[in-house]
Amino acid sequence: MNQLQKIDKRIALGITGASGSRFAERFLEVASKIFSRVYVVATPAGKSVVQHELSAKKAGFSLARLLSGEDAKSVDPSIRLFDNENLFAPIASGSSVADAMVVLPCSMGTVSRIRTANSANLLERTADVALKQKKQLIVCPRETPLHAIHLENLYKLALMGVDVLPVMPGYYQHPKSLEDLDDFMVGRVLELLGVDHSLYPAWNSRMR
Ligand SMILES: Cc1cc2nc3c(=O)[nH]c(=O)nc-3n(C[C@H](O)[C@H](O)[C@H](O)COP(=O)(O)O)c2cc1C
Repeated sequence: MNQLQKIDKRIALGITGASGSRFAERFLEVASKIFSRVYVVATPAGKSVVQHELSAKKAGFSLARLLSGEDAKSVDPSIRLFDNENLFAPIASGSSVADAMVVLPCSMGTVSRIRTANSANLLERTADVALKQKKQLIVCPRETPLHAIHLENLYKLALMGVDVLPVMPGYYQHPKSLEDLDDFMVGRVLELLGVDHSLYPAWNSRMR
């Protein structure tokens, strides 16, 4: 995944307090090698769940270390981290909008606030800007079971042109590890962003 020539695209990554932080970690690791910029913003609940689910001691890229500020110097220069309270960040403005936004994982609270254009923090504002500027917004909800309001909110987002990509890894590629499942989800996001990847083989590639 070490691209010689990066794609000149700026991606905003919103991380919320839904379970599945490891998908955000892997997405950011891969996306920072593919895209010229990845702007990262995490909600307070997102940071808490990252600290709960991921290890800051892990070798290699660590989202827990990044969000705690420990990796500030060694982090890939394509990654820009913004505070969720910083409404002065460039991605908060329609004049400096990211080319696409991915919210991974997306809590039901944030789904509801994006749907109602709440915009009370940087993550919600960036999603709102993506919608008003007609940019791609990929929302990756994670909750189970879903009640009628969750489903209605996701339905309304889909009607507005949002790509709703639930955190639902598939098993038909016979994953051998959690990392394979991470790559399945990250590959799905990359496909929606129009990026070819080799995170897993294309389905029935021998029959192509
Ligand atoms: C360990 C943990 C896991 C959670 N998992 C989920 C989840 O999968 N989906 C969800 O909607 N909320 C989940 N929550 C609850 C959200 O974190 C909570 O609703 C929070 O207010 C969401 O805030 P945010 O949308 O600003 O990130 C979880 C909370 C914790 C502590």
